Amino acid sequence: MSSEISLAWREPISDDEMADLVRSHGGIAPDDWWATIRPHSLGWVSARDDAGLLVGFVNVAWDGRDHAFLLDTKTRGSRQRRGIGVAVVRFAADQARAAGCEWLHVDFEPPLRSFYLDACDFRPTDAGLIHLPRWTTPTL
Ligand SMILES: CC(C)(COP(=O)(O)OP(=O)(O)OC[C@H]1O[C@@H](n2cnc3c(N)ncnc32)[C@H](O)[C@@H]1OP(=O)(O)O)[C@@H](O)C(=O)NCCC(=O)NCCS
Repeated sequence: MSSEISLAWREPISDDEMADLVRSHGGIAPDDWWATIRPHSLGWVSARDDAGLLVGFVNVAWDGRDHAFLLDTKTRGSRQRRGIGVAVVRFAADQARAAGCEWLHVDFEPPLRSFYLDACDFRPTDAGLIHLPRWTTPTL
C-alpha cells in the first residue's frame, strides 16, 4: 500500500463521505445508510489519503463476544488494486482480535475469492445463506 494512506479505527465518517465512496465504485448508497448501520457495529476501519479523502472502508459487526463479521469492504474506484483493501481488512482483523473476538467471518461473491482467500488470508469454510425476502417458511 502506498505510504500516504492512513488507517483509523472508529474514526467518524459522515454520511456524505460514505455515499461518495460507495458511488465511486459504482455502488448505490441509500440515504442515511451509514447512520443506520453504525450503531450496530463493533467498529469500522477508514483509510484516508494525505488530503483526508476517504479511499477505503470496512465495517465489523459482531455477536458481542467471540464472532466478528466483515461487511461492506470498499476501496474508492480510482484507488483499487493498490493494496488498500487488504490493508483495511488486516487492520479490522487486528482490532477484532484486540476486542476479544476469536473468529472473523466474511462471505463474498466468487470473483472476490482470490481477494479474501489469497490476499487477505481467510481460509475457506462451509457456510450457508438465505435470501429472506424470497424465502417462504417450510410447512412442518
Ligand atoms: C473488493 C475490493 C474492496 C478490493 O479492494 P482493493 O483495494 O482493490 O484490493 P487490493 O489492492 O488490496 O487487492 C489485493 C489483491 O486481491 C485480489 N483482488 C483485489 N480485487 C480483486 C477483484 N476485483 N477481483 C479479483 N481479485 C481481486 C488481487 O489478487 C489483488 O492483488 P493484485 O492487484 O496484485 O492483483 C474493491 O474491489 C471494491 O471496493 N470493490 C467494490 C465493492 C465490493 O465488491 N466489496 C466487496 C464486498 S464483499
